[in-house]
Amino acid sequence: MRFFEYLLNILCFWRYKWGVSNDTLSYKLAELLDISRGSVFLFENARSAQYIFLKSLNLRKKNSVALQAFTCNAVVNPILWVGLKPLYIDIGSKTLNISLDSLYERIDSDTKVVVIQHTFGTPVFKEREDFEKFIEEMHSKDIIVIEDCAHCLGGSLDGKKLGTFGDASIFSFGVEKVLSTRVGGVLVVNNSKYISKVWEEFNNLHPVGYLSSFLWLLNPVIWRIIRCLGGTDSLARFFRNLGLLNMGFFNSELLGKKPKHYPRKLSNVLCNVVSKEIDCLSLNLKHRKRISEIYEQKFSSVKEVELVEHCKLKDISFLRYPLICETSSLASDLFQFLKKERVNVGDWYCPVVYPHSTSLKSMNYEKGSCPVAEDIASRIVNLPTGESISVEYAERICEGIICFFQNYGNKRN
Ligand SMILES: Cc1ncc(COP(=O)(O)O)c(C=O)c1O
Repeated sequence: MRFFEYLLNILCFWRYKWGVSNDTLSYKLAELLDISRGSVFLFENARSAQYIFLKSLNLRKKNSVALQAFTCNAVVNPILWVGLKPLYIDIGSKTLNISLDSLYERIDSDTKVVVIQHTFGTPVFKEREDFEKFIEEMHSKDIIVIEDCAHCLGGSLDGKKLGTFGDASIFSFGVEKVLSTRVGGVLVVNNSKYISKVWEEFNNLHPVGYLSSFLWLLNPVIWRIIRCLGGTDSLARFFRNLGLLNMGFFNSELLGKKPKHYPRKLSNVLCNVVSKEIDCLSLNLKHRKRISEIYEQKFSSVKEVELVEHCKLKDISFLRYPLICETSSLASDLFQFLKKERVNVGDWYCPVVYPHSTSLKSMNYEKGSCPVAEDIASRIVNLPTGESISVEYAERICEGIICFFQNYGNKRN
């Protein structure tokens, strides 16, 4: 969105709460996913979207929701907030997605929901028919499928959009996701059986208020200032302590507690910001794909790292590009090196329920229960693919990393 347009959004406070942007955004999303507008629900974030869907199901306290370890606390928390049990499933070491073998082994008659997370934008299934068969199989076991599309807005599998396979799906426009809006989440309900209950829940919610909308609008501006001033963590913490910056989580969420003001609908002004960014989605995805191709090309024969297996890069735009290092110490040294070089390097998802300060005990995660996820979490470093990464910069990042590996090897010998 252009600077003046953004400024206008900030200044026109009478448009903060109400207006037509909600309809416009729902319409654009419905068109993007090729679904009906009535199945799109807009929230402040994806965790609220997932919470409302789970709440509307009215399941029993003993029921569990299967989900992969190697995820974010924002996926686990809605399960805890409705009083259900998270059932952690290990991941495939080459896909970073849920391992179907482990899933089939672990689900039982108390499992009523499974969350399918397309990690970094790579679909869990390689073929459309396999995904459709899986949904049928889950239905035969009385299990509802939620697709977690927080990383794959606009992604598709054999021409069908991700997020339209499951009974419901969630998308995020939050911090470090596909769009640079830093706020917003969507619930898409594909199975008409669940829609009326969701509407009942949704109609009881309020939109994000004036002050919060204002602060959300300030966030991208503050991040830009932080980046211009050198982009340090302490600077971000300073703005956070002033209450001006949202880093993605409130402290209570790290302990599995629901902030009192959750869940809220996305306010009109925030819908407008997201809506404008959606217009540039195909360029955004094309850019991410191009940057991912550079990383793939440069690292495919580097022995210090393994790349994930992805079926068809033609449909995949990595949200972040994962490198699985040979050892955890190499990963942590590489991470520190890239931080020093001011690269926006990521450690998603280390630990297996992210971020670091999350209490695994509060998340009901038992250490050692998902060994592959724990191993990958300790060895992963991921690289940015967004619009701030030009082709030349991506190439420089690759050269820097390859040089780092050479020096690292020399030091060891
Ligand atoms: C895989 C995944 N799903 C869902 C979410 C929740 O998104 P939101 O921050 O919009 O609640 C996140 C958040 O980082 C995520 O990483």
